[in-house]
Amino acid sequence: MKIKNICCIGAGYVGGPTMAVIAQKNPDIKVTVVDINAARIAAWNDKDLDKLPIYEPGLDKVVAEARNRNLFFSTDVDAAIEAADMIFISVNTPTKTYGQGKGMAADLKYIELCARQIAKVAKTDKIVVEKSTLPVRTAQAIKSILHNTGNGVKFQILSNPEFLAEGTAVQDLVAPDRVLIGGEQTKEGLEAIQALVDIYATWVPLENILTTNLWSSELSKLTANAFLAQRVSSINALSELCEVTGADVNEVAIAIGKDSRIGPKFLKASVGFGGSCFQKDILNLVYIAKSYGLNEVADYWEQVIIMNDYQKRRFGSKIIQTLYNTISGKKIAFLGWAFKKDTNDTRESAAIYVADQLMEEQANIAVYDPKVTAQQMQSDLNYLNTRPEDDNESQLTAEHDPYEACKDAHAVAVLTEWDEFKTYNWQKIYDEMKKPAFVFDGRGILDKSSLETIGFQVYAIGK
Ligand code: NAD
Ligand code: UDX
Repeated sequence: MKIKNICCIGAGYVGGPTMAVIAQKNPDIKVTVVDINAARIAAWNDKDLDKLPIYEPGLDKVVAEARNRNLFFSTDVDAAIEAADMIFISVNTPTKTYGQGKGMAADLKYIELCARQIAKVAKTDKIVVEKSTLPVRTAQAIKSILHNTGNGVKFQILSNPEFLAEGTAVQDLVAPDRVLIGGEQTKEGLEAIQALVDIYATWVPLENILTTNLWSSELSKLTANAFLAQRVSSINALSELCEVTGADVNEVAIAIGKDSRIGPKFLKASVGFGGSCFQKDILNLVYIAKSYGLNEVADYWEQVIIMNDYQKRRFGSKIIQTLYNTISGKKIAFLGWAFKKDTNDTRESAAIYVADQLMEEQANIAVYDPKVTAQQMQSDLNYLNTRPEDDNESQLTAEHDPYEACKDAHAVAVLTEWDEFKTYNWQKIYDEMKKPAFVFDGRGILDKSSLETIGFQVYAIGK
């Protein structure tokens, strides 16, 4: 079975880059990415590549090559579904904010809507691919919705979770550690798996394409994220121990990471992990474990989140304590608002929580982030919903210039590890700040001793 026409529902951080690379590598396949968010689709179609709705290094080049050749962005969901022989579902699966499982389970309403729309519109057989991260056994529900339409169309469901990380999406897609494809272990299921393998095989070596049953694939995605987040929480737990014992967390990370059984990656102590995936996926894993009555399993993974919440709060408290336990009316500069460097995504960013904690103490915050808009910062704070919107607007301002953000501040806090922060003229920043001038490095990216030579008082996580 050779796929000629792909539709992807959801033009977000996953759907956009993933389909751009699939289209770039398969010029003979027509790929249409659809979304109900018309503004997002318009931005994907913007001639000015700086206006793409998501920032990812290298993405503009891939889009420029494939767009309007065999890559299209559209709001006409029905037409794209009808024309496709393979449909990727790449919609968001956030944590539920209501009802049963509130605050833990994945909200599958967008997934179910997609399945119902496919069921309604499809007139020819389709392969439906779960690209979104889903609780194990979701394919069962999708199958049940699709198969009960009674219009004779045959569907095969595959699970093909995405492992890209934001900020390195293009690189991760072009050279993935592995591609995972799960499907039914029947003749038709295996044929569907092969059709998707053939698409990836145009650029991914076959030994890096793993095929499994549906449930292994769905569960592997949730647990891969849980394992990664667990490493961050483990090193963050050690960061506090380092601070009280005189050990240096960076030295400890290098020493333990040199053990080939442990490995060097994902051992960077920080103000806490953020992003749209880790917290949501672990909470979902905890919920699934609880729903099977596996309480010890649930508690084990929940501790990763508890540690992360503690780390964010600990950083905020450190700022408050160091500034003589009173920050009311003081200006504090934030360098970085995104949840990591090289992305404009702010979902679950530690900066939001630290800002909220400091604003609760009536501090004034001035933020500089190279890629995040003032409007986005306000909407992140308003989403937390801890104080009136007017208060958020008067207490937090976004600056276009980092030096302006730091001018007259009592402290500078580094919340995102953007490379440019390391190259700033820190002497100039010092000269223009209130004294004593403090730096709180939540990402461990600045050279502590050279800042101290300038005159700063420096706190760096884990030192
Ligand atoms: P996103 O919010 O950036 O994008 C989802 C898009 O789907 C939105 O633009 C939304 O308008 C659209 N959408 C929702 N319902 C729709 C419908 N019925 N019809 C058409 N469009 C619809 O989300 P994302 O970050 O791309 O994540 C998507 C999925 O991929 C999630 O399940 C997530 O867990 C998973 N994932 C994300 C990442 C990541 O780094 N962001 C990595 C791997 C996996
Ligand atoms: C993650 C997974 O890495 C990816 O495989 C999955 O597909 C989606 O979720 P993402 O959330 O985009 O990707 O970024 P990631 O690089 O994993 O970083 C997550 C958070 O952990 C960031 O806030 C980052 O700053 C933090 N982090 C990461 C650390 O604090 N220390 C580390 O050593 C690594």
